[in-house]
Amino acid sequence: MRGSWLAVAIALADPDDGCLGAFDAEVPSDPSKQLAQALWTRECADCHGLSGAADGRSSATLEPRPPNFVDPCRPISDQWAARVILEGGASYNGSPAMRQHHALKGDPAVLAALVRIVQDFRATTACEPKPSAPAVTPAELD
Ligand code: HEC
Repeated sequence: MRGSWLAVAIALADPDDGCLGAFDAEVPSDPSKQLAQALWTRECADCHGLSGAADGRSSATLEPRPPNFVDPCRPISDQWAARVILEGGASYNGSPAMRQHHALKGDPAVLAALVRIVQDFRATTACEPKPSAPAVTPAELD
């Protein structure tokens, strides 16, 4: 974990911080949410994108690419999100680029707020089948 969260909290209080301002103009009042949001911007957005759309600076160079959290067709559970954040991709044969964050075990409120950030990126529109992936009809399965 780079830097201290206290320093992050102090940085958050600075209205001139361009990076955080770009993420969200409205700073939440809950300290856990503030820390989670600062953590997202500093530690996660590079790969996952500021708005979770897998369009961060490093997204394109990763193989596999990070998942697009905005996609309504691939919902994940809170439990799965928390597990991957805590234990990292290597814990389930996923990408080791997604590191473990064991330090968050001692801060369940920040972990929960981080999970909310991830979950709230998902578009509320219905999942439409993509033209490139035609639906398989029962007849085709015979
Ligand atoms: C170095 C790039 C990188 C960073 C930094 C990073 N991630 Fe990831 N993340 C990934 C990749 C790649 C995956 C896909 C892992 C896999 O299943 O192969 C992933 C997977 C995930 C998943 C599981 C999503 C799913 O649909 O299964 C969650 C949740 C997640 N990351 C949240 C975070 C959070 C929160 C942070 C910051 C604390 C973070 N990530 C930091 C690259 C990154």
